[in-house]
Order: sequence, then C-alpha cells, then structure tokens
Amino acid sequence: MTPEIQVELADGVLIATMSRPDKKNALTNAMYGALADAVARANDDDAIRVLLIQADGDLFTAGNDVSEFAAQAMGNRGNGGNGDKGAEERHVLRFLRALATATVPIVAAVQGKAVGVGTTMLLHCDYVLLADDAQLITPFVNLALVPEAASSYLLPLCIGHTRAFEMFALGDPVPADSAVAWGIANRTVPLAELRTEARRIAGKLAARPTGSLTAMKRLMRDAEKLVTQMDSESAIFVERLASAEAKEAFTAFAQKRAPDFTKLARQ
Ligand code: COA
Repeated sequence: MTPEIQVELADGVLIATMSRPDKKNALTNAMYGALADAVARANDDDAIRVLLIQADGDLFTAGNDVSEFAAQAMGNRGNGGNGDKGAEERHVLRFLRALATATVPIVAAVQGKAVGVGTTMLLHCDYVLLADDAQLITPFVNLALVPEAASSYLLPLCIGHTRAFEMFALGDPVPADSAVAWGIANRTVPLAELRTEARRIAGKLAARPTGSLTAMKRLMRDAEKLVTQMDSESAIFVERLASAEAKEAFTAFAQKRAPDFTKLARQ
C-alpha cells in the first residue's frame, strides 16, 4: 500500500489514481505494486465491471522514476523498474503482465504529459480519453533504453512503423489531436471535463453485459503474444540499463543537463 496510488470503488468502477504530483507522478516500485494490485483486483472481483486509471496534478505521469533506473544501473537491482532480478520483487513486470492479460475493460483519463510507461500503458487500455493539453512521449532511446510494455509490437501495429520509429527514436511529444488521429486514443475533451467524461464512459461500460465485454476483449487481444514480447523487451532492457550510454543518460538527468552520447561507441 502506498498513498501515491489512491484506489476507490464507485458503482462498479474501480478508480486507480496516480498521486505523486510533486514528482510528476513518476512511478516507483511501490506505486507499480499498488497499480498491479488494482488491475488484478479489477480483473478478479465480480463486483468490479470497469477499471479507470487517472492521475492527480498537471500531468498523467513522468514514467518510471529515473532515480530508480539509475540505482539499477549502478548495480542496486532491488529498486524496481525493468532491471534484473533483485531481492525485492519488481512490481513493474507484474503490473505490465496484469495489463496485458486483463479482460476487464480499462479506461484511461490523461492530462498533460504521459511519458514512457505513461504512454505505453495506454496501448493496453480499451478507451483512452485525452485532455486537450495531453502529450504522449516515449523517450526510451533518449535514456539509451528500449521500449517496454510490448509497445515495440503494439505501437507500430497501431500507428505504423515510421510514426512509431519516430516516437521511439526521437521522443518528441505527440499532441493529443495527433494521438487521436493515429488511433492511440479515442478522443479529446477540454481539461476541465476530463474526469467527469471519463466517469461517464466508465459508467456506460459498467452497464454493458460484462460477460460479453470480457469475452470480446479476450478475442481482440493476443495476451500470450504480448507477454512473450514483454519478456523479450525486458531481457534487452536489462542489458541496456547496464550500458555506458544509460549511465550517461541517468547522470545527465540527475545533473539536469542534456546527455552527450557522441563520445560513446556502439555497444
Ligand atoms: N523520475 C524521477 N523524478 C522525476 C521524474 C522521473 N521520471 N520526472 C520528474 N521528476 C521530478 C524532477 O526531478 C523534479 O524533482 P525536484 O523538484 O526534486 O527537482 C520534479 O519531478 C518536477 O519535475 P520538473 O522536471 O521540474 O517538471 P517539468 O514540469 O518541468 O517537466 C517532465 C516534467 C515530465 C517533462 C520532466 O520532469 C521530465 O522529462 N522527466 C523525465 C521523464 C523521463 O525521462 N521518464 C522516463 C521515461 S522511460
């Protein structure tokens, strides 16, 4: 349990709210654990008909806590993230697997920036509502890492290779309108209406026949393929985390400067 993930059940909708606004909802291992528990609960509890993921503060999430990535890169592997096996369970993998295999309908309400896993988790949601200020950012290569959450498969499938390559390789923000036009999200709403509209959609889904919805979702998604892709990504992610390139990226983040990869040879 962490107060940085708030969970409440209302009218058959389980609402999981990321709430670490001072750190832009950067996700720690404990937060991934609470999110994984929420997805599992929503999937397994018959009283829950829809899961809604949202966030407090001015942005959805800044993605994985970079200081935990850095700790892993330094060899402290118990801190979460996508690193190698450590003494502490890596809840990020449990969260991602739970998302990939969930049959409960998942709605996401996104304001401001959704960075890294903040964007890739949306590829596992069934209805993605964006505030008009939303921006999707996947800066894995900027951090000398590789995409996760089966996004190396799902994003090109959704928006085509060239757009996905550009998002991953350059990490530039994709504005809400483009994300809708490309099929990553359903539609945009004014920021002030985001939560109300997300609840309305979740409520509408909760009134549908749940058995039919979950059977339909199971048919639409190849969960086994997604988990296999995640395992492949995770193995390469661990290698990249240990690279000199990643060390430079994390040091630069801590020092609040741009990284310089130009003096590092390809490894
Ligand atoms: N991990 C850990 N801390 C983070 C973080 C992250 N991913 N993102 C933001 N923070 C922290 C900042 O270090 C800062 O902490 P401080 O107040 O103690 O200095 C605080 O959150 C506010 O961040 P700041 O950068 O000042 O906010 P901003 O509104 O100017 O920018 C972002 C927001 C998200 C654009 C920017 O913080 C950012 O790019 N973060 C890194 C995103 C990233 O690379 N994530 C990993 C993806 S794989």
